Amino acid sequence: MALGDFGWQDYALSHGQGLRRLDAAVRPLSLHLGLLGSSGETAWYGLTQLGRPEAGETVVVSAAGGAVGSAVGQIARLLGCRVVGIAGGAEKCAAVVERFGFHACLDYRAPNLTERLRAAAPAGVDVCFENVGGAVLDAVLPVLNPGARVPLCGLVAHYNATQPYAFANVMKLLDQCVTLTGFRIGHVAPALREQARAALLGWWRQGALLAPETVTDGLETAPAALVGILDGGNIGKRVIRLPWGDEA
Ligand SMILES: NC(=O)c1ccc[n+]([C@@H]2O[C@H](COP(=O)([O-])OP(=O)(O)OC[C@H]3O[C@@H](n4cnc5c(N)ncnc54)[C@H](OP(=O)(O)O)[C@@H]3O)[C@@H](O)[C@H]2O)c1
Repeated sequence: MALGDFGWQDYALSHGQGLRRLDAAVRPLSLHLGLLGSSGETAWYGLTQLGRPEAGETVVVSAAGGAVGSAVGQIARLLGCRVVGIAGGAEKCAAVVERFGFHACLDYRAPNLTERLRAAAPAGVDVCFENVGGAVLDAVLPVLNPGARVPLCGLVAHYNATQPYAFANVMKLLDQCVTLTGFRIGHVAPALREQARAALLGWWRQGALLAPETVTDGLETAPAALVGILDGGNIGKRVIRLPWGDEA
């Protein structure tokens, strides 16, 4: 059977779930990789099930301009939280506030991140959705409130590091009785992931959630796109468009 006859373009491979049939009426299909795929599921699951923010609480999100971070911040805002992003550079921080509705976004490359966090989160931080680790997480630890939750989603600052990072403020986890929970979306129950997609689709249909993408054309752009994810060259989900797709 030809791939086209099989309707191959209506399926997506997803972490830990194999092939999943997509709702082909929901377009563009790349949505099913980003906001309605594993990035969105990761954001929804980590925030709502592990972060458990309540309206009025303060949520900090690192890598706030990325596929997961931009979704986390938008969801937290919909749940009535104060949302403070952390991202690289003034331009990306401005986009995080202007496009995704974060209340503030702080450039981690500028000095005194902890002091700037105290100013942006005057009531302290109740949830830190952690995508980065290293010096960024270290700067947030002194600002965590008692009983804060830290969904540990990613540690991108550690992936290519040649030296282990020595946390200066790790005692805060103990002093503030913080719950830090690592998770992998591929290990989350399929029913919860379906619940995530349903919630995200509902918000997206209402126009309450944006699904940002950075798109390049052709497989030959893949190596640079991968490097771009690691060095901050993307806003939202990195998508590589191939010429034989039905939307090519
Ligand atoms: N637990 C899970 O199941 C799961 C699932 C999906 C993704 N993840 C993790 O979640 C995180 C976000 O994933 P994503 O797909 O949404 O990627 P992404 O945020 O779109 O891209 C990663 C971003 O991290 C930032 N970054 C890279 N190196 C950094 C460093 N040394 N210090 C500070 N920031 C740095 C860059 O943004 P700036 O421009 O802001 O520097 C970069 O754009 C990653 O850690 C990923 O591994 C986990």
